[in-house]
Amino acid sequence: MRFELEIIKYVPPGDGFGYHGEKAVFVPETSPGDLVEVTVVREKKKFIIAALDKIITPATNRIDPSCPHYEDCGGCSLMHLSIEDQVELKQQMLKEVFNRYGFQITPEFVTSPATYQSRYRTKIKCQDGVVGFSAKNSHRVTPITGCRILSAGIMKELDRLSALGRSNCEFSLLQSRQNGELAVSVSENRRQVPLPGFPSSITEDYGFGPLKLKSSGFAQSNPFITKLIINALVEEVDQEQALCELYCGGGTFSLPLAGKVRKLTGIDISEASIRLAKENADLNQLDNTFFIAANLEKEMKLPKCDCFVADPPRKGLGQFLILQIGKSEADRFLYVSCNPATLARDAEILSQNFGFKLSGLTGYDMYCHSTHCEALAVFER
Ligand SMILES: C[S@@+](CC[C@H](N)C(=O)[O-])C[C@H]1O[C@@H](n2cnc3c(N)ncnc32)[C@H](O)[C@@H]1O
Repeated sequence: MRFELEIIKYVPPGDGFGYHGEKAVFVPETSPGDLVEVTVVREKKKFIIAALDKIITPATNRIDPSCPHYEDCGGCSLMHLSIEDQVELKQQMLKEVFNRYGFQITPEFVTSPATYQSRYRTKIKCQDGVVGFSAKNSHRVTPITGCRILSAGIMKELDRLSALGRSNCEFSLLQSRQNGELAVSVSENRRQVPLPGFPSSITEDYGFGPLKLKSSGFAQSNPFITKLIINALVEEVDQEQALCELYCGGGTFSLPLAGKVRKLTGIDISEASIRLAKENADLNQLDNTFFIAANLEKEMKLPKCDCFVADPPRKGLGQFLILQIGKSEADRFLYVSCNPATLARDAEILSQNFGFKLSGLTGYDMYCHSTHCEALAVFER
């Protein structure tokens, strides 16, 4: 079904919103003031999710997207706005999500020092020889030749990957901003394995010493913003503290933090990441770190500490983990999140049930030109 729609406001995470009769309609890639024609993607009793077909009258702040793939590619969804408008929108959405949970807080928002060519880690699909990203609302892969957000090194590598002539797989690429090294892995039986002929790891440096990272594991995507988040975390802790880092990965936050505190324990479910974190601690001659491979969502006793740091996946903290943090003796909690909705949900539980007061909230434009938003919340009691 197609219909005309006037977009009246933004709603989290940054979609345009309007009414079709009594029904609420959510349309990505639209802005208040747009008069658009849309197609229904999903219809429920009270709301419709629709896709933008045609702009009849554009909002006054629309700009021409600078990427040649913007119309077709499912990657970016905010390039029709200036970077200033994108940041204002994300700040507003972060505020709104927290307001819904009863927090009257206006977050700070940090823009990315580079907004184009700011992505140094990506997953690229390969479908019948076509290397690129999924097209909008589709499983089809659209070829990428002029992406504006990928690092120049990753863009150069795409031709080489196309030439391999592989079909139906996913490549993971990771580039070091510090020295340009590039690692590639490929999906095989739902796992990422090294791609023959390509390095599998890189060395990055966020200003606190060398950090080995693998393309097959987790790595932060925007090194400019990652560096700023690390600086903020390091400023929040003091040297007497015993710190426990939950979801620590290969140690991106652990190593800078370990240099500042008395003792750091890092926990992650991935044994490969824990091995890497230990290797990184050795590389940096740190003797106050302890890394444990464990599932934080299952019963697992957390070590005693003064402060927790966590950077969970999008679904946020598990109920069991929140209970443990709540019952601990820690009086500080630094929570990094890539999903404001689960961050605000967890913040409400921590503050209402366990006396953790939200003392700071900062958004970071990690994922420029998309509605995704990274945030750091500081809790104290
Ligand atoms: C957003 S990443 C953060 C990693 C780290 N902060 C970094 O910058 O590399 C989330 C991490 O959570 C880990 N993880 C996911 N589920 C988990 C679980 N149930 N228990 C422990 N760790 C988990 C993943 O292995 C991943 O390393």
